[in-house]
Amino acid sequence: MEFCTSVESIREVVTDWKQAGQRIAVVPTMGYLHEGHLSLMRIARQNADRVVTTIFVNPTQFGPTEDLEKYPRDLAHDRQLCQEVGVDAIFHPAPAEMYAPDFSTWVTEESLSQTLCGAFRPIHFRGVCTVCLKLFNITLADVAVFGRKDAQQALVIERMVRDLNIPIRIIQAPLVREADGLALSSRNKYLSAEERVRALALSRGLRAAQARYDAGERAAAALREAVLQELQPAADSIDYVDVMARATLRPVALIDQPALLAIAAYIGKTRLIDNLFLG
Ligand code: PAF
Repeated sequence: MEFCTSVESIREVVTDWKQAGQRIAVVPTMGYLHEGHLSLMRIARQNADRVVTTIFVNPTQFGPTEDLEKYPRDLAHDRQLCQEVGVDAIFHPAPAEMYAPDFSTWVTEESLSQTLCGAFRPIHFRGVCTVCLKLFNITLADVAVFGRKDAQQALVIERMVRDLNIPIRIIQAPLVREADGLALSSRNKYLSAEERVRALALSRGLRAAQARYDAGERAAAALREAVLQELQPAADSIDYVDVMARATLRPVALIDQPALLAIAAYIGKTRLIDNLFLG
């Protein structure tokens, strides 16, 4: 497995692969890898000849009061997991390798990124789009795999790829949960034992809403209420519980088209997200 920290060195590796006619899949990550990431890498493996995993805690997607400094990192463990899952190359740049001191070019998606997390994290998706486009360009990838745990992120990236005619196929991969329902996230590390128990209210709320939906309920307010009944007693604060049209990420009152029921809530100081695709 190649381990590259400079754009020049990963470019040499991927250019050789391209010249040999091989297809490349990239799995962008911020490291502290877990089974959710590994599932993306396995899907990448099935869809390309070569797999590149990028490990980069991207500073431009964190707001000034967010957890950039304390975001968990464990490069040695990440390297071991990538090796085990059959990744061909890791790209792990330092921030200075990605952002020149006078960096001044940004990608801003102006519709899907405005609601849900975008409403609470104003610069987040600008940072995500910009770094992902850079990573696509650097790795010369034909395919990129994103998890549905960050459903809005995957939809925003798909929109960016469509709007800017980027020659890459985006694959959305299923959300992976612990056996008790907690969605896998690197940020779960922040949870104390007591908070982890409370965090189960997110998936419990979604399951309650799914049960109502399966029983025929189509009113967004009723599904929201089903989530809130579980979430309100457990969460320290709630950013949103919203039912959105999947095509627009705008609120719907009645689910008569594919929809996304999405949650962002704080358990202690940890902001967790989870979601459910409906219809
Ligand atoms: O989902 C993430 O881990 C990040 O937002 C991503 C896609 C790697 C961009 O920094």
